[in-house]
Amino acid sequence: MKHAATLVITALSIGLFFAPGCARLSSQTRASDSYADRFEREAVAADHHLASEAGAEILARGGNAIDAAVATSFALSVVRPYSCGIGGGGFMVVHRSGEDGAGAGQFAINYRETCPAGVAPDRFEKLDDPVASRFGAHSVATPGTIVGLLRALETHGTMDRRDVLAPAIRLARSGFHADAHYISSTAALIDRFEANPEWKRRFAFVWERYLLSGNVRQGDLIRVPEQARALTLIAEQGARAYTHGPVGDAIIRAVRADGGVLSPPDLASFHVEQVAPARARIAGYDLVGMPPPSSGGVTMFEALRILDALGYDFSGPLDTPERAHLVSEALKHAFADRAEWFGDPAFTDVPVGRLLSDAYTASLAARIDRTRTQPASVYGSRAQIVEDGGTSHFSVVDRWGNAVACTETINLVFGSLVAVPEFGFVLNDQMDDFLTRRGRVNAFGLRQSERNLPGAGKRPLSSMSPTIVLDDEGVLAVAGASGGPRIITGTMQALMRTLAGDSAGASVARPRLHHQWIPDRLDLEPDAFTGVGQRAALEGFGHELGERVEIGSVQLIRRARSGTGWDAASDPRKGGRPAGR
Ligand code: GLY
Repeated sequence: MKHAATLVITALSIGLFFAPGCARLSSQTRASDSYADRFEREAVAADHHLASEAGAEILARGGNAIDAAVATSFALSVVRPYSCGIGGGGFMVVHRSGEDGAGAGQFAINYRETCPAGVAPDRFEKLDDPVASRFGAHSVATPGTIVGLLRALETHGTMDRRDVLAPAIRLARSGFHADAHYISSTAALIDRFEANPEWKRRFAFVWERYLLSGNVRQGDLIRVPEQARALTLIAEQGARAYTHGPVGDAIIRAVRADGGVLSPPDLASFHVEQVAPARARIAGYDLVGMPPPSSGGVTMFEALRILDALGYDFSGPLDTPERAHLVSEALKHAFADRAEWFGDPAFTDVPVGRLLSDAYTASLAARIDRTRTQPASVYGSRAQIVEDGGTSHFSVVDRWGNAVACTETINLVFGSLVAVPEFGFVLNDQMDDFLTRRGRVNAFGLRQSERNLPGAGKRPLSSMSPTIVLDDEGVLAVAGASGGPRIITGTMQALMRTLAGDSAGASVARPRLHHQWIPDRLDLEPDAFTGVGQRAALEGFGHELGERVEIGSVQLIRRARSGTGWDAASDPRKGGRPAGR
């Protein structure tokens, strides 16, 4: 029996800096409802109130959910510079209601970063620096956010590019105040700079302008007007400012100065894909999510379908040890399959249909022991034992019933730490989401197969899980999260609570669990399962328990449970606040 002592996992102890980070909010803080609100017509829930307000401003001016999503994202680039931004990439899942004259339906937009042409599959195995895929120019994948957002706007938006970018440009000029999440997310990074003093010169922009030379305090004004120049060029010139213009040129210079291989053709050839979303029917609801190269939608849907096959009652609460055991077992199967099967579908066949099929999910459900957890080797379809950020999610609904779930990232906190000084933004370190060294886990402790090796033009596997839940009346919920693999488990549990009838506020705030198969450990937030005997009961199922300060940061909008309108919440773990009318 594995009655191991509870492990306390902190970002610092494993040397990582997860953007959703370590906002150490007490239950009391979470119980406050400043992070949730009710809106009659339209709403945006982002993980920073200024970004929610930027999107809401566009909705109030008559824009649709896509216009608002694009405005929100550009604003996040300014106010959550360690989570996402124009140096990164992302995914959107979109529902068109048909009420505004556009065709009804759902689709996904993929603007995930791509591997530069000059990077071979064994690139990182040949480099001496063991963290080259996480810090510095080698870790930078070709950014996709600028091209992706502008494509979404041109194809599905209604407003002028200059109007949609205006709120972000204003924010970049005026600056914003560092909040509690900014401080908690950057504390470990400051320690790392102190431990590597040469970084203060190498990554001078991040050190001096964003970390205020290690002295950043809550309430400090962070002002990077250089980004207003980039955003203004994008507003004026469109994507060409990046693909063939001054913003792109500055990116290449910044990467080259730090020894990287990004080249102009990588930027010029960046392609955005509009694809069919992943779908699953669970407990009478239609779930619409992100397909590969995100593992998010399919891994979450596989776990939920396994639970459905077990006869799990989705209308009941999550918080009993018996239910938590079943959720954990379903996650172990789904994450084992994530490790085995996933990669960029443009380069490898990902058997999505089989992983979500009735027969397969029923067969995995049948292998679950309701009384005990089992060794890691028995999970998934071909589990192998070989031997763990910055991200931001927002949800939007408009007055026509359109919805956007959008998750974007630069990967770890402040991404690669390589900044583009002329234009005041940082570049991603998304290369670490590839399998960079065979047999090793990535920064999130995730095992991955050779399907996810780097390769020219390939997109690294992601856990981002923008998701829309539909029922007979249209959109029931729009959700997603930041937090590496805890994106999947955080989004899943928030949606399970919504399906069980919880408010948006309760759905995002209640404590969560996380299991990702390997490490074979059930992580709990500090205030999860604290009732008398509950943790002992979980250990009685054979689970080794760990504790993690925060399991994802979820932004969720749900149709109001009574009356009309929308119930919106920004996860109190990250300190955001929704906006709308
Ligand atoms: N970089 C985190 C993810 O895409 O899963």
